[in-house]
Amino acid sequence: MKFSLLLASLAPLAMALPAGSLVARSCPANALSCSSNAGDSCCSPTNGILILVQQWVPGYGPSDAFTMHGLWPDTCNGGQTGSTGCDSTRSYSNVGSIIQSYNSTLYDNMNTYWPSDAGANTNFWTHEWDKHGTCVSTLAPKCYANYQQYEDVNDYFSTALGLRAQYDLYNALSTAGITPGSSTDIGTFSQALQTAFGVVPKVDCSSGTLSEVWLYFNVQNTNTFVPIDAIGSNTCTGSVNYPTK
Ligand SMILES: *[C@@H]1O[C@H](CO)[C@@H](O)[C@H](O)[C@H]1NC(C)=O
Repeated sequence: MKFSLLLASLAPLAMALPAGSLVARSCPANALSCSSNAGDSCCSPTNGILILVQQWVPGYGPSDAFTMHGLWPDTCNGGQTGSTGCDSTRSYSNVGSIIQSYNSTLYDNMNTYWPSDAGANTNFWTHEWDKHGTCVSTLAPKCYANYQQYEDVNDYFSTALGLRAQYDLYNALSTAGITPGSSTDIGTFSQALQTAFGVVPKVDCSSGTLSEVWLYFNVQNTNTFVPIDAIGSNTCTGSVNYPTK
């Protein structure tokens, strides 16, 4: 499918991506995941809390950009989906070559913004697709008008990278005067992101050093991401070390 990001015209707190040939069959108006108005599994994601997980790993990705860890559908109770994913018939072993054949521009963007810090990129992406992508109910082949093989894989990663660009953590922090090479109290750090995005993030550290930021969403009309406050708590406490990379 043709996939282009229409970022400029969007309301700041809602991300809309083109629906392509996703079919919204008999969906309620403004179907919203995890609400009484969710509609069926093609109208909004059944695992309806989507977590955009970005990481900050020195040595990986542009020096002025967080990179992707994943886009994870959680249950509406905030629980994780299973470790083996949700549809073994769409579990693949070579997601790198699937994306490369489907759209080489997306593949290039994946290598830039979704690098693995532990082994080959394709293995990282394959894991993310098999465990999490197959759990996005709106991407099931039956939800497409004329499903083409791997269209779901393409849509999953395109959507995730689009969200990463819209929810640009580096820029949000920079706007608040927080730049790499500094240490900032977790309250101030979190508030900078709340100011930018209007919701509470979950900020994770490893030994006092920033590792990841999680942003939480419900999904409206299959493809509009509506930010919500984080369900989990920060693992950062005290001062957050934000190293240069
Ligand atoms: C390929 O991916 C890029 C980046 O996501 C996107 O801008 C472009 O529209 C896609 N091309 C096609 C043919 O879908």
